[in-house]
Amino acid sequence: MGTAAADGGGAKSRIFRWINAARYVVAMAMTALILVMIAHAIKVVLRERELVVTVADGAVTTIGGATNLTFVLTIRATNLDGRVQVYYTNISVYLACKINTTSKAKYFLAFPIDDIAVSPDTTIVAYKSVPGVNGTGDNMIEPSLQPFFDFFANGRTIHNAVLRLKGTLKTEEYSGHNSTDRTVVYCCARLTVGVGDGDDDDDDDQDSTVKCTKENAVHISNKQPESSILSCELDY
Ligand SMILES: *[C@@H]1O[C@H](CO)[C@@H](O)[C@H](O)[C@H]1NC(C)=O
Ligand SMILES: *[C@@H]1O[C@H](CO)[C@@H](O)[C@H](O)[C@H]1NC(C)=O
Ligand SMILES: *[C@@H]1O[C@H](CO)[C@@H](O)[C@H](O)[C@H]1NC(C)=O
Ligand SMILES: *[C@@H]1O[C@H](CO)[C@@H](O)[C@H](O)[C@H]1NC(C)=O
Ligand SMILES: *[C@@H]1O[C@H](CO)[C@@H](O)[C@H](O)[C@H]1NC(C)=O
Repeated sequence: MGTAAADGGGAKSRIFRWINAARYVVAMAMTALILVMIAHAIKVVLRERELVVTVADGAVTTIGGATNLTFVLTIRATNLDGRVQVYYTNISVYLACKINTTSKAKYFLAFPIDDIAVSPDTTIVAYKSVPGVNGTGDNMIEPSLQPFFDFFANGRTIHNAVLRLKGTLKTEEYSGHNSTDRTVVYCCARLTVGVGDGDDDDDDDQDSTVKCTKENAVHISNKQPESSILSCELDY
């Protein structure tokens, strides 16, 4: 009898132990599931959205001469995210190149472009025409850059130019709420700067479009090492 009761109690407590273990497993599974859902939600909210930025024809075209030198470029920004609006604001464009083998690469032109707001799955085009000014003009960075002005005013062309866009990137995470501002630099290398080649076909030449890469660096100055001015690959 005693043994039977003990057996019965043992069977009961085995069942309770089993139920407890099952509860425990279910609770653990629920906790894990909830954690995964929270992590996913945070990831969706915090995921960095990027713009795909390109320079049309891989070129900045110069028009005019000594009295009216003008640089013309077309930048495209595409928002591949299907849901959120991306803002890129307070944008400055910097153009650098090396005009001969003995000179140093320098930023020789800097100018602002309009804020852009790119809706999901769309591309916007920013067309810009900026006057270059001999010597101390508004757009040339410093007077010592006059050799660059003269070079382009004389109708010459280089193919090693680098353009950087520096601005503030943010996304509208949900209606009425923007993400925090981030300074983001896009670097576009191996651009042609100079007079158009004249034999441009009518079709938009996709092959020559230059795609810009995002850089971690945010400093843009002629004090940078020359190699980092002329290359987008280096993160310094
Ligand atoms: C620039 O100025 C030159 C001479 O002053 C003129 O011949 C030329 O047409 C002008 N170019 C543009 C694009 O205004
Ligand atoms: C806008 O950009 C300029 C140049 O990069 C910077 O000095 C300035 O602080 C920026 N302003 C804001 C409000 O971010
Ligand atoms: C090379 O470019 C520099 C400006 O960066 C200029 O001072 C120098 O005269 C140029 N040299 C030649 C040979 O054109
Ligand atoms: C720019 O101005 C300087 C004098 O200030 C002159 O020597 C130079 O030839 C000018 N450049 C052009 C392209 O006119
Ligand atoms: C988000 O940022 C953009 C660009 O700066 C601005 O126009 C918009 O009003 C901001 N939206 C909110 C809700 O702050």
